[in-house]
Amino acid sequence: MVDAQKFIEEAIEEIRRTVKGKAIIALSGGVDSSVAAVLVHKAIGKNLVAVFVDHGFMRKNEPKQIEEIFRNKLGMNLRMIDASDRFFDAIRGVTDPEKKRKIIGELFIRIFEEVAKEEKAEYLVQGTIAPDWIESHGGIKSHHNVAGLPSGMKLKLVEPLRDLYKDEVREVARALGLPKEISERMPFPGPGLAVRVLGEVTREKIEIVREANAIVEEEVEKAGIKPWQAFAVLMNDKTVGVKGDIRDYGYTIAVRIVESVDAMTATAMEVDWKLLKTIMKRITREVPNVTRVLYDITDKPPATIEFE
Ligand code: XMP
Repeated sequence: MVDAQKFIEEAIEEIRRTVKGKAIIALSGGVDSSVAAVLVHKAIGKNLVAVFVDHGFMRKNEPKQIEEIFRNKLGMNLRMIDASDRFFDAIRGVTDPEKKRKIIGELFIRIFEEVAKEEKAEYLVQGTIAPDWIESHGGIKSHHNVAGLPSGMKLKLVEPLRDLYKDEVREVARALGLPKEISERMPFPGPGLAVRVLGEVTREKIEIVREANAIVEEEVEKAGIKPWQAFAVLMNDKTVGVKGDIRDYGYTIAVRIVESVDAMTATAMEVDWKLLKTIMKRITREVPNVTRVLYDITDKPPATIEFE
């Protein structure tokens, strides 16, 4: 484990020494990009432009929360880009998970490049941490935060967290005084809810999984447990249910709650049955068209954490 305070001082010094001009970062609100952004902001202030590209697959209230923390509280130079129409258009009809990732990743880079050009940035800051590049070289899934280096641009790469693991990044986040919404934030995939809707992504399905996911996160928080990740996934087939005394064809939500240290392996969490029942009741009552809720008991391996 690193000494967080010492790491912060050295990182800021190193950034000041190497970054001699305008820098840009794609800020997702995840703990990695947030810590990277705050370190660089501390080092070079308004010379860092943080760009939040809202692809429309974010969790409930996420964009608002990001704006509140990074612009209003931390005074960062933040640009919010609402690009959801472009993303929904781009993945219409696409069912293959890796194709979804590729399309979303490439469009994300294109939009980010447009902003980087406008801003005339010379440096690209990324929140890459050790497991990102280790697993990405292993080729299990393409993670766009690693593959996503704009290729045609001559941006110099700044990766202050390259040697850290997730728990160390969280420690640095706490030492930086970041709110716990950031320091304790669960990992969330770059392509967002688009890989939590199995098969074709529609606005309706994203809305359903977003609501279900918010319920899972809320109830997990209330239960006082601290899993690595807890989330909802929307299955791609409808199943039969009953409403009143008629058969009702509805969507199925899978709930996944896992423990892990670095996402390389994970264990399905043995949570309280009452918690699962509460989640099931709330989802089937509060989220339209959902008639069935499943709990995924599979570890990684053999499964991955995400379903796609
Ligand atoms: P898997 O599903 O491979 O996930 O066991 C391992 C960790 O990576 C996250 N994940 C992603 N992160 N882009 C990302 O930035 C992606 O496409 C992606 N896919 C999975 C996942 O949430 C878990 O923390």
